[in-house]
Amino acid sequence: MKKIIAANWKNNGSKDFIKKYFSYLDKNLEKSPHKEIIIFPPDIYCSLAAELRKDNPVYLGCQNINININNSTLTGGTTFEMLEDNSLEYILIGHSENRANEEKVSLSLKTKLCEKMKIIFCVGENKSDRDKNLISSKIYSQLDDLIKAYNDSMDLIIAYEPIWAIGTGLTPSSKDISNTHEIIKKYLNQKLPSYKEKDIMVMYGGSVSFDNAKEILTSQFVDGILIGGASLNVEEFTRICNLQI
Ligand code: PGA
Repeated sequence: MKKIIAANWKNNGSKDFIKKYFSYLDKNLEKSPHKEIIIFPPDIYCSLAAELRKDNPVYLGCQNINININNSTLTGGTTFEMLEDNSLEYILIGHSENRANEEKVSLSLKTKLCEKMKIIFCVGENKSDRDKNLISSKIYSQLDDLIKAYNDSMDLIIAYEPIWAIGTGLTPSSKDISNTHEIIKKYLNQKLPSYKEKDIMVMYGGSVSFDNAKEILTSQFVDGILIGGASLNVEEFTRICNLQI
């Protein structure tokens, strides 16, 4: 199975940054049939990134979408058709930094509306869940939103991102990451029998850098990584993408 390596730029970047980034990738990114590279630029730069990726073997995704729940107009909104029009293949749903701002938005509904894209659905516990040993129950309840929206034709990937690990330099041990990924795969397999365990991909995100990327990527049940801060450094991101795994 391919490993996914994704860059989540969050609210970083500029036209100049993106031009230099893609020009560096052009010269230095090694093509590999065993890896899928995805970049999530800020929305406003997605079309520029789509133009600049040219022959780069990278996919593009949208970090979030303001959906139009009632099918009415929505100031500041984006539609699925606009994402498609910009040649974006992926969408992140449920990133913890967005969940905090979107308590009233049904992630289930959002997932349904984006069902034609490849969805990366983010889950993860906070520090207090972890201290209280509530990791699996927290993750199950987050996965339930996805399960409600699921249909057989969805192309679906899970990103396990413990909130306490995002941007902090802290990560769970690779054994803990493997255990949680296994729990996620088992739960989805049990709730969605039509979704074969071997097809369930789970990525890890939270303080991934060149120093820990290989260990995490090669851990059991880990199918990819979602990189925030370290992906802003194109040299570091390229070194991670070019790792021999
Ligand atoms: P980080 O962010 O790599 O900077 O911890 C990861 C994420 O939020 O997706």
